[in-house]
Amino acid sequence: MYVCICNAIREAEVRELVRAGVRTAEQAYEEFGCEPVCTHCTDYMQEVLDEEALQIEAAPVQAYSGLVND
Ligand code: FES
Repeated sequence: MYVCICNAIREAEVRELVRAGVRTAEQAYEEFGCEPVCTHCTDYMQEVLDEEALQIEAAPVQAYSGLVND
């Protein structure tokens, strides 16, 4: 699925950037070497970044909780 049609940026590519430390839409466009054209995607881009960051941050807690319960 595309996050940004104008720049052909896919959701998987955006999620991959989060693993490299990118947290804002502005940083993402910079990493992709482009700029928003119509800007219809910027809110969705940020939502995808936030969602992926939450999943990454939650992962160690889940693993730790598993160790405590064992
Ligand atoms: S859809 Fe991303 S700039 Fe237009």
